[in-house]
Amino acid sequence: MSIVRATTENIRAAARIIQAGGVVVMPTETVYGLACNATDDKAVQRVFEIKGRPAANPLIVHVASVEEVGRVAESVPDILGVLAARFWPGPLTVVLAKRPSIPYRTTGGLDTVAVRVPAHPIALALIRESQCPIAAPSANLFSELSVTKAENIDPRIEAEVGMILDGGPCEVGVESTVLDLTGEEPEILRPGGVSRADIQAVLGKPLGIVPPPTVRKSPGLYRRHYAPRASVRLVDSIRPGEPGLTFQQPTSDSQIRMPLDPRAYAANLYSSLKKLDDMGFDEFGVELPPDTQEWEAVRDRLRKASST
Ligand code: TXA
Ligand code: MG
Repeated sequence: MSIVRATTENIRAAARIIQAGGVVVMPTETVYGLACNATDDKAVQRVFEIKGRPAANPLIVHVASVEEVGRVAESVPDILGVLAARFWPGPLTVVLAKRPSIPYRTTGGLDTVAVRVPAHPIALALIRESQCPIAAPSANLFSELSVTKAENIDPRIEAEVGMILDGGPCEVGVESTVLDLTGEEPEILRPGGVSRADIQAVLGKPLGIVPPPTVRKSPGLYRRHYAPRASVRLVDSIRPGEPGLTFQQPTSDSQIRMPLDPRAYAANLYSSLKKLDDMGFDEFGVELPPDTQEWEAVRDRLRKASST
């Protein structure tokens, strides 16, 4: 299926595909998603098959408003009202106790469900038109680079979906922050589009730093992830002429200059890694951004991209 413009008519057609148990690619403000009806066990299974994703790795469920969270989550804590008022629609995903209407297939066997209200108008229109919560993992093959431009969707995914809605480049560029609200204290399971500092400001207290093995809680946290084909070397400063991502003035065509601003960097991250990958190098260097909170999500993705 080829890529289509997200006209009202095409969004309607995509919604019909979803209602019929099919799978489409939709844009979100973070990354493109592989979308299906979150309550349809067979459709969800198909999404896992298309991605080659392990069954224990749960999907995020997308709804159109905070009022709809009650359709997928058993109880909605007060704190969600505060978080939603500040961050929704937007790149924050919260983990809550799931309702029986969400199949275990969607949650990877967990009694919890991850849910968010995306900010992209096309995603919101598609959810409303489909009249169901939409499960959507990032629209990439398992462990590979997420996709922030429709033309970067892997042909193997393109071949399997009913439609790809082109919503232009994703503004945020890294996935949503996953915040677990089922424990005694809120806990960030995956850093992402909403920064730790912003969440702490709203909660009025610091969030604990969770040691890496949160694998039990969020089975989608693998060491190697978001990775290009080439091996990635994290460095302070790339060598003259060495292919890679740099903060300096490039000294060759195979160096891409990255912005010093974390938001602008995130917006360009996956497409820049893909550009380098498409040049065919076996290895390239990436200059590590500063070890500060505002770079947390970007550094997390770079570390995972460089894991072997
Ligand atoms: O920005 C995003 O979140 C994108 C767009 C498409 O919305 N989606 C995305 O989905 O990144 P995915 O499947 O690539 O990543 C989902 C993450 C995984 O780390 C998974 O472990 C975690 O969310 N997750 C999902 N359900 C969970 C649950 N019930 N408990 C804990 N973690 C969960
Ligand atoms: Mg993903």
